[in-house]
Amino acid sequence: MPDTLTLTDNRTGLTYEVPIEDGAVRANALRQIKVDEADFGLMSYDPAFLNTASVRSAITFIDGDAGILRYRGYPIDQLAVESTYLETAFLLLFGELPTKDELARFEHEVTFHTFVHENVKTLMTGFRYDAHPMGMFVSVVAALGTLYPEAAKVDDPDVRLAQVIRLIAKVPTIAAWSYRHNKGLPYVYPDNDLGFAENFLSMMFKMAEPKYEPDPALVRALEVLFILHADHEQNCSANAMRAIGSSKVDPYSAMAGAAAALYGPLHGGANEAVLRMLAQIGDVKNVPEFVERVKSGEGRLMGFGHRVYKNYDPRAKILKVTAERVLSELQSKDVLFDIALELEAVALTDDYFIDHKLYPNVDFYSGLIYRAMGFPTNMFPVLFAIGRLPGWIAHWKEGHENPKTKIGRPRQIYTGPTERKYVAIDMR
Ligand code: CMC
Repeated sequence: MPDTLTLTDNRTGLTYEVPIEDGAVRANALRQIKVDEADFGLMSYDPAFLNTASVRSAITFIDGDAGILRYRGYPIDQLAVESTYLETAFLLLFGELPTKDELARFEHEVTFHTFVHENVKTLMTGFRYDAHPMGMFVSVVAALGTLYPEAAKVDDPDVRLAQVIRLIAKVPTIAAWSYRHNKGLPYVYPDNDLGFAENFLSMMFKMAEPKYEPDPALVRALEVLFILHADHEQNCSANAMRAIGSSKVDPYSAMAGAAAALYGPLHGGANEAVLRMLAQIGDVKNVPEFVERVKSGEGRLMGFGHRVYKNYDPRAKILKVTAERVLSELQSKDVLFDIALELEAVALTDDYFIDHKLYPNVDFYSGLIYRAMGFPTNMFPVLFAIGRLPGWIAHWKEGHENPKTKIGRPRQIYTGPTERKYVAIDMR
């Protein structure tokens, strides 16, 4: 049987044979289908990319029905147990797990680029005291590009590599400083003796102590969170990073766009929305009534549902256990965690959620862990962004390494008026 699709245009009676490659047909193959020579040709219409592959990518594999997530072939549950954030970042960026030497070099490079230009500090002090940290983050990541004008040479692999290191290293510094700014606390400089997550916690929470010593269990929990968020193939923000990057702008500008996409409540802002929802429910006994309200169309159950997963998000499984572990480590009890457990139990046995295939996603439990660790709610999307850094950069890098990449530019179906004559203002 040939790997082709036969299409008949009932308008003309003509038949076309279109090749099938990797389970897909090229939308451009439809353009030959015309009613006459003047016709533009058939287009495919797919707002929100419900069934359109925009790239060929070797970074991340998801099987949404089976609840599988793999980075470069490695299952997420193995990486969450065995790997570190920087090792996972290396894997996503360069395609293979590093050797000992490669990892040591990568860790060294990242550690020694964590400082930012003092102008970044001056810039950040200009924000209002209560500016949302994600708003600061988006703006300052874009501004970082002004300090590295050579980053515009995106076709030079060495220049690209230098920006990869700078972004992974410096973005957490900006993230932590956005929190310090909100708190009116002095910004803490990076500590090169500390590992990636430890250093981030130090820049966030260090006060007068000469050396910040975070709880190792919390450091590991943060690493796990970062690993689980590190990539998720062509999600809204990765798509933004690729689309903006396809114009060959510098990666700082592209990443600011990706971070802006992440900020929305349907994407990385959902973890913040989950906590607000749990607080609004207020008590385990109010869960059934809340679920009924969601079913009647009064808002959504935040942290539930996914465009790709129609099964339990494998990341949510790991985070549920991590949340239990962190709360027990801190000997802390959180009524919001109890509400979340009850909400999940009720939703998973309710016909509406079963029929709609709605299961907890990565955002359902992540916020509870961040909260237990002392992060304020408005920092959650920023934490998501730090986790997602390697994924965004890996997609940007893959796009630039592929000589066939073209500028992203969708078609449209025009629905506006046909040509009409301009009417002078006093005649309208
Ligand atoms: N609560 C209640 N109903 C829902 C939910 C939900 N969380 N999610 C989807 N539905 C219903 C929706 O009302 C619709 O019902 P019907 O067909 O009867 O009109 C159906 O399920 C399909 O919904 P959709 O909006 O067409 O699905 P989508 O694939 O476009 O949206 C989603 C995916 C993640 C935006 C959506 O499930 C949602 O809004 N979830 C809540 C927000 C959230 O947790 N976002 C985090 C996503 S995971 C991390 C990330 O990407 O950053």
